[in-house]
Amino acid sequence: MSRVLIFAGSTRRESFNRRFARVAAQQVADAGGEATLLELADHPLPLYDGDLEAASGLPANALKLKEIFIAHGAFIFVSPEYNSSIPALLKNTIDWVSRPLPEQSGYVPFSGKPAALLSASPGHLGGIRGLRHLRDVLNELQMIVLPKQVSLPAANNAFDSQGQLTDPATNRRLGELVGELLGMAKRLAK
Ligand code: FNR
Repeated sequence: MSRVLIFAGSTRRESFNRRFARVAAQQVADAGGEATLLELADHPLPLYDGDLEAASGLPANALKLKEIFIAHGAFIFVSPEYNSSIPALLKNTIDWVSRPLPEQSGYVPFSGKPAALLSASPGHLGGIRGLRHLRDVLNELQMIVLPKQVSLPAANNAFDSQGQLTDPATNRRLGELVGELLGMAKRLAK
């Protein structure tokens, strides 16, 4: 069974996307998958700077994240939407992880792996516009991004005190997406 890496593009303590990522990780586990819930706050990175990279190579946390990505066969990206696009934290993380090493292409952490996209926002569109940009970036990195995605609007009212989704329909759609991701990962592993 493929390992699934789940993380949110937010380090905010009360982040709705981090909460959504926790629900997704639980659904992966409930569906029999092996879920790793990653917190980007545990792997802080400088803003990408080509001079820094030329002088000292990849930061230790970028190398660590590369290893973590390589060790996983499927991904769930849970992204806030900033000005209708990808938050800098998430893009910066992807940018560092995609930098090549002398002996390894920058595509290796991503290429040929299935990805499911989620977003959460207090707004009524649920961050869906940002996912179009995220999808483009991940496609360019040769990921297999599932056509379906789940956006969570009014995220400030979407979780109960246990961190569970209050809307059964959203919960069901998330479960279906997780099922598709695990199915795709299984087919690709054959
Ligand atoms: C936002 N927010 C936002 N929301 C949205 O639905 N569409 C948008 O385009 C934006 N733009 C935006 C820009 C910037 C710079 C910030 C800081 C915020 C609001 C955003 O959805 C909200 O802050 C979420 O709570 C962020 O996600 P987390 O941290 O709760 O996961």
